[in-house]
Amino acid sequence: MLKAKHLLDPMDFTLDELEETFQLADHIISNPQKFSHVCEGKILATLFYEPSTRTRLSFEAAMLRLGGNVIGFSEPNSSSVSKGESIADTIRTVACYADIAVIRHPKEGAPKIAAMNTTMPVINAGDGGHQHPTQTLTDLLTIRNIKGGLSNLTIGVCGDLKFGRTVHSLIKAMCRYENIKFVLISPEELKVPNYILSEVLKKNNIEYKETVTMEEVLGELDVLYMTRVQRERFFNEEDYVRLKDSYILDKDKLKYAKEDMIVLHPLPRVNEIAYEVDNDPRACYFKQAQYGMYVRMALISKLLGVR
Ligand code: CP
Repeated sequence: MLKAKHLLDPMDFTLDELEETFQLADHIISNPQKFSHVCEGKILATLFYEPSTRTRLSFEAAMLRLGGNVIGFSEPNSSSVSKGESIADTIRTVACYADIAVIRHPKEGAPKIAAMNTTMPVINAGDGGHQHPTQTLTDLLTIRNIKGGLSNLTIGVCGDLKFGRTVHSLIKAMCRYENIKFVLISPEELKVPNYILSEVLKKNNIEYKETVTMEEVLGELDVLYMTRVQRERFFNEEDYVRLKDSYILDKDKLKYAKEDMIVLHPLPRVNEIAYEVDNDPRACYFKQAQYGMYVRMALISKLLGVR
């Protein structure tokens, strides 16, 4: 059983609870039939105030594969949000219809407000530039299963480290494992926020370095986590255009990397990984998207307490 009722932040689960969730995901991967009815009669609500492909569809697929049903909106203008309804009232209403809710919202903290207004489990599917804990479950399961564990790794995170919520959640979560080093690769304007450096990396004595150049550090990495520049969080288009192609991973650059380094990306990608990289055995981002569905199946089962 999980102690947490909701998943709002990657730190809501203990290391043991995370490992139990990953073991359940592995079990589901090997025995999908055994789980195809465990959520019969249960309803998942997906409340997406921002666009999504992977998170929303993998949650919906996860619930359907567990035998449950799905309701929700993917466009806030098609709901009463467009008439000015608050998050608190929306979630109280949805709790009359559903057993568990997944919320993506442009405002940091919105899923937490929702969780404070219901006893139904609430899952943060991304809140502004803050956190994306289910992407982190996905990333951790991918690294654990492909690299054989979550300790003794040098992880490069590259791109928009300022607005990239997946990076913030990943750094927070990985700091709890042993002998983790981070290499933070970004333009000056898109560096990791200071609170991540001081409250997460320095506080936990995690070795890290910041650099602007990808090529000079590629050879040190066990995992390269690429991210896109988050156009929707920029205040002006000029800055976005200037920074959007800061890093493009291609075959030539991969020559600097270890043979067993893995390339991850939460997706969607724009230009930051050339399509020619997709055929390289180190490219694991579509496998990662698939793990996302299985870990969400495990998460839904655990939060609903189904057997
Ligand atoms: N990784 C991720 O959150 O993708 P979507 O925005 O498509 O959900």
